[in-house]
Amino acid sequence: MMMKEYLKHQVFNVVSDIVAKEGVEAYVIGGFVRDLFLKRKNTDIDIVVTGNGIALAEKVAKKMGNLKVSVFKSFGTAMFRHRDVEIEFVGARKESYNRNSRKPIVENGTLEDDQNRRDFTINALAISLNKENYGQLVDPFNGIKDIENRIIRTPLDPFITFSDDPLRMMRAIRFATQLGFYIEDATYEGIVGNRERLSIVSKERIAEELNKIILSPRPSIGFKLLEKTGILKDLFPELQNLKGVDSVNGKAHKDNFYHTLEVLDQIAPNTDDLWLRWSALLHDIAKPLTKRFDPAQGWTFHAHNHVGERMIPAIFQRLKLPLNEKMKFVQKMVFLHMRPIVLSEEEVTDSAVRRLLFEAGDDIDNLMTLCEADITSKNPEKKDRHLRNFKIVRRKLKEIEEKDQIRNFQPPVSGETIMEVFGLTPCREVGDIKSAIKDAILDGIIHNNHDEAYQYMLTKAKKMGLTPIKKNEN
Ligand code: CTP
Repeated sequence: MMMKEYLKHQVFNVVSDIVAKEGVEAYVIGGFVRDLFLKRKNTDIDIVVTGNGIALAEKVAKKMGNLKVSVFKSFGTAMFRHRDVEIEFVGARKESYNRNSRKPIVENGTLEDDQNRRDFTINALAISLNKENYGQLVDPFNGIKDIENRIIRTPLDPFITFSDDPLRMMRAIRFATQLGFYIEDATYEGIVGNRERLSIVSKERIAEELNKIILSPRPSIGFKLLEKTGILKDLFPELQNLKGVDSVNGKAHKDNFYHTLEVLDQIAPNTDDLWLRWSALLHDIAKPLTKRFDPAQGWTFHAHNHVGERMIPAIFQRLKLPLNEKMKFVQKMVFLHMRPIVLSEEEVTDSAVRRLLFEAGDDIDNLMTLCEADITSKNPEKKDRHLRNFKIVRRKLKEIEEKDQIRNFQPPVSGETIMEVFGLTPCREVGDIKSAIKDAILDGIIHNNHDEAYQYMLTKAKKMGLTPIKKNEN
């Protein structure tokens, strides 16, 4: 197959000219070629040369306008950027193509050696940049056929490919999820048989793959595969524990693993925010820990939102996810995830809406998106009713926010003012007056402005037996 017309970037011609002079061969290879056939945008170009990759990168970069080259000597690779495209060069290898390995890199391989050592047939496709057959596709493992049949398959015996680099087991599941491909049976068995070797892979690289699974159009594909292959129970036992149903007196609760995955799939079309998607994955994480059977109420998961919120730091730490404001956001979403549904089941009062706005602040829209995805009832009428109620909640939230500006609530009377007016030093009364003012605003007794809050402070303080030392000052 000729692919000349797809080689639009100027780098291909520059490489072609240089390697012709030097008597070596070069090919564009890997993800970029795969994505040409899948019609996916890809701005990472990998070039493999039967010679020194770093030296070639330097020559090409010079020709293209003295671009700055980053060299990764221990990996034997070099890359430079050209506008929004990253171009990476590597010498063809006989040994495994493995960026993590401490093994010495054995270069001076042929293209065939290099293709043999790649992860999947769809990632081993190469296009020639050599004069005699420029644009020619080199596809020794029928990668094109696998793309057509939507199959993930290792080029060699999967046991070799996966023990060369165990991260590839996560990559197989990630590609299956991103592309909606089927993992061919022997490859799948290779994962099951080698899954323990994932323990030698860095947590950061595993997290990268997990994040890519979560950001896919249907993340459930990946988590079901992680579960079925036996990877999940070691990697993420809290999620594994959601699986299964208990039944007492013929009453069973729903399977929270599949419920969680449904929520994650349902939120996917509505947000590309990785952390909101993580919130969906973790929203019920404490259900197994809080599960009780009560003869009167049936199954309860009392305070699972709160327990879940507190489980998150340990999970994030173990998976090497960021322990910063992203984690705090996920904690907040998990803690608040039941609020809108409870609210929508009752009469939607202004005061309840104000309290929700106060607690969620600027994250209110994200919280609503999470709660809408959390409706997984099989009963379409029930589902419709909930979603209708959420529309009412959303409308009310908007009305009340326009009227009262609660989202970024700042107390209209400060603690300092209270202390000044009543001649107090910091003490419990100051806090009590401040929260009484906040509650009065949230309950709609007064409006969210300084004058009404000031008057309310005076009345409240009087009831507490306090008298102002300053008179009539606003
Ligand atoms: N590769 C491999 N084994 C790995 C990682 C990468 O064999 N563990 C090879 C594959 O040929 C892959 C290429 O290196 O196509 C480039 O890898 P990378 O840039 O990490 O991934 P892509 O396949 O381009 O996919 P994506 O950009 O979606 O990560």
